[in-house]
Amino acid sequence: MTVIERSLPYSYSHLEKAAELTLEKEPFTYVQSGAGAEVTLRANEEAFERWAIVPRVLKDVSSRNLSANLLGTHLPSSFMLAPIGNQGILHDEGELASAKAAAAFGVPFIASTVSTFSLEEIAAANGDGSRWFQLYWSSDFEVTASMVQRAETAGYSAIVVTVDMPVVGHRERDLNYQYFPLALGKGAANFLQDPVFQSRLSKSPVEERDVALAELLSVFFEPALTWDKVQELRKITSLPILIKGILHADDAKIAVDLAFDGIVVSNHGGRQLDGCFSSLDALPAIADTVKGRIPVLFDSGIRRGADAVKALSLGADAVLLGRPYVYGLAAGGENGVKHVIEQFIKDFDSAIALTGLTKASDANRSILRKVN
Ligand code: FNR
Repeated sequence: MTVIERSLPYSYSHLEKAAELTLEKEPFTYVQSGAGAEVTLRANEEAFERWAIVPRVLKDVSSRNLSANLLGTHLPSSFMLAPIGNQGILHDEGELASAKAAAAFGVPFIASTVSTFSLEEIAAANGDGSRWFQLYWSSDFEVTASMVQRAETAGYSAIVVTVDMPVVGHRERDLNYQYFPLALGKGAANFLQDPVFQSRLSKSPVEERDVALAELLSVFFEPALTWDKVQELRKITSLPILIKGILHADDAKIAVDLAFDGIVVSNHGGRQLDGCFSSLDALPAIADTVKGRIPVLFDSGIRRGADAVKALSLGADAVLLGRPYVYGLAAGGENGVKHVIEQFIKDFDSAIALTGLTKASDANRSILRKVN
């Protein structure tokens, strides 16, 4: 397709640059930017620099196992692709390309509520791959219930409820461009193809798309969401339920006490509350609180294999890869995502071996030191 596709870069900063060269400035900024002054966005990456791996040597690392098994899902390299909405702004094939690339490596894909393609279309592209569904809780519970049931029918094997978005973060750079992909209809498929949502519309979405999108924006998230309400999901699905967007150990404790099936330590890639804790800084206390009773996943700042080693060492059972793979999508479509996944696996494998480990699940705090 492009020169970039034939020579996709290997480093994160060059990959980001390749995406920037491919995209218009608005969609590129939508992915790259964070909320406010982007203090948390930067802190997410900087936090990794404050931990150093102290490797062991002469350990016979000739055979290595990078895998994890979480809630019935096999992760061949202890990572999944994070839910990222509106991928059609980055490439015409959007989530279909990402879901296909993930399946080619057996890497589980987490589809966002606000995907450009519907969850059924993504499931078809993902084929025999494994997939989870990320839920933004709609203020219309019947819509939420309908989407969860559709996800179950379409072969998604867990529901990830994102709870760090009771309101949308103040993303200054998107505001500067007045660029909002959801309002443009780039993340509307799951709603517009939902029978319950359709039945609520005052006008046909085909004839009055703008009206449908405005009505979507009024229901797509729920500022009044509470722990009690999320528990209602139990009544409508038997799938495992994870809570994404945990930073406080007390919230992790509530998730365990209420018997949720897992949590994702995340600050949404610095896109929600600017000035909040970096995700990696939040991880150790949360892992200490959870004590292995439910899986702890981690995201926000994972760029390289050594980052994953550090997160696993600090108590994560697996990590989610976010911005890197969608930069690959922008720069090279499905092949771009495959390239990013392949390089991440190689880098992670090398980092595990060079740390002196043979199993990713053996990573623990004894191999880390806090520096500066
Ligand atoms: C996101 N993220 C996100 N999370 C979610 O639960 N539902 C979603 O629809 C989205 N959409 C989304 C769009 C874009 C452009 C980005 C960058 C992120 C957050 C995502 O799942 C993950 O938490 C972050 O991407 C992690 O940060 P890094 O590692 O990508 O910087």
